[in-house]
Amino acid sequence: MEDIAQIMGLSPVIPVVTVNDADTGVHIAKAIYAGGVSVIEITRRTAAAFEAIQAVKRELPEMCLGVGTVWTAEQARNAIDAGAEFIVSPGIADAVDDVCRKHEIAYLPGAQTVSELAHLATRGRHHVKLFPATVLGGPPAIRAYSSVHPEMTFCPTGGIDQETAPAYLALPSVACVGGSWLTPKDAVSRGDWDAVRLEAKNVDRLRA
Ligand code: 3PG
Repeated sequence: MEDIAQIMGLSPVIPVVTVNDADTGVHIAKAIYAGGVSVIEITRRTAAAFEAIQAVKRELPEMCLGVGTVWTAEQARNAIDAGAEFIVSPGIADAVDDVCRKHEIAYLPGAQTVSELAHLATRGRHHVKLFPATVLGGPPAIRAYSSVHPEMTFCPTGGIDQETAPAYLALPSVACVGGSWLTPKDAVSRGDWDAVRLEAKNVDRLRA
């Protein structure tokens, strides 16, 4: 099992994927992996999410599989049972943190404010999803957060795309960004998995 720092180093982008059926999840995961990205976060925001997570785990075990939008201990346990290698919360969710510690599963908690970052630091969490990064003020906000929390490493997420990602990735405190742009809705509805593969293939160019 990898820790969250290692997982954040797997790719400049953690693709955030929300699917309405398991097959689509598998197609997307395979396309992303074929494009050279070996990490994915599937959100648990749809009825099909857990079926998709189980299917990706079964069909593509080499993919580092995360489950996102996890707020409660029960959701965390379900995600771990479904095969999650890491868990993501968009904000503070101490009950999820506790479950991840107990099961020794990598965890990426979220924060929006300097006080929440301080809270996470007191719990020994120094790798954080900063969400929604664009609304929080983008790269200048992260520079300000880093000035008072130099111990923190960020995965900014929320409103980021291939145009804006490089400015985030240029910051020393940013290990990777998260985003859903690798799976454009129109490409997914057409079943254009090659378009998804090409989006994944481009991520290495985002880091200067
Ligand atoms: C998430 O769950 O992390 C977000 O939905 C991703 O944000 P984005 O869709 O703006 O990239």
